Amino acid sequence: MEKKPRIGIMTGGGDCPGLNAAIRACTKTAIKTGYEVIGIHNGWQGLLEHDDEVLNWVHTSGIIDKGGTILGTSRVSPLCVENGVQRVRDRIEVLRLESIVVLGGEGSLSLSYKMYRQGIPIIGIPKTIDNDVRETDFSIGFQTAVQIATDALDRLRSTAESHHRVMLLEVMGRNTGWIATYAGLANGAVEITIPEIPLTEERLDVICEKLKNRRSSGIKFSIVVVAEGTQLPGMTTPPPENLTHVAEAITLKPGVAQILGNIIQEKTGLETRVSTLGYIQRGGTPVAYDRVLATAFGVKATELAKEKKYGEMTALHGTRIVGVPLEKVVKGVKTVNLNAYNIAKRFFA
Ligand code: F6P
Repeated sequence: MEKKPRIGIMTGGGDCPGLNAAIRACTKTAIKTGYEVIGIHNGWQGLLEHDDEVLNWVHTSGIIDKGGTILGTSRVSPLCVENGVQRVRDRIEVLRLESIVVLGGEGSLSLSYKMYRQGIPIIGIPKTIDNDVRETDFSIGFQTAVQIATDALDRLRSTAESHHRVMLLEVMGRNTGWIATYAGLANGAVEITIPEIPLTEERLDVICEKLKNRRSSGIKFSIVVVAEGTQLPGMTTPPPENLTHVAEAITLKPGVAQILGNIIQEKTGLETRVSTLGYIQRGGTPVAYDRVLATAFGVKATELAKEKKYGEMTALHGTRIVGVPLEKVVKGVKTVNLNAYNIAKRFFA
């Protein structure tokens, strides 16, 4: 009996809510299209270590709302392993994979493009809570992270009101301030700091003056949202790196918000407290928006694979789901749309 063609699927880089919804959609669409689906464990590491499984209808039922990724993930790169690319090619041949769907963020998609240039047939799906992947309006995971951060900010406002405090919340966003901008806007924060707009001494003084004026005008609380990549005066964060191979992602010095909070308290004399949301933004069940986006991307990725449009990535353009060349995606991170930031800025203290 003729063997069915096969598609591989993997998740690379940081995890995010919505990955399993995309794995489910891609797998079920591919099965209906006549493919067999191979789930590759822990990103590219799974091909190097022959760690994979056949995914079927049962495996991918009941996971649309499940956080994380049933396949596991890693930041391992074949480009940094001896004979890595050839080992990947050999494994693809043994598994009879026609193509591989890679769910990745900016770093993993950059790596995937390099592998595509080495002749590996790849289709990309953008996922990252950071929303810093070019050529798509949103990536899987972003809207859930914004909701988690907004819920946290709403809770911080109630305790800030009770204690008459300035409350800072540090959110993720290594190179860009998308989560801080959207969650800060949704919460009505009085200040949002993002990597795209380095903080100067002058701006810091203006912020502190505004916080003092709020208090003297009778508003007893202030909420400030701080992206983890915020650059304080005299502090430079590492430039966005192509994550070709890091055992550890480039994690910033923890606590940029704590440093800023100390400065604010010192300059204003206002009681200030700092919270860091950390990995809570990446865990748990995806919101409905991300389930829908992930499902649409999973279906589109299978269509691109069937059409042999390798080297493309699924993308959201307005309300349309399209395919875009990875070559255009990997030209760097997508920084914050300052239109959105400037809307939030209208309401800063
Ligand atoms: O890229 C997504 C992200 O969550 C960033 O916002 C964060 O800085 C980074 O991953 C953390 O990486 P790791 O999970 O390797 O610590």
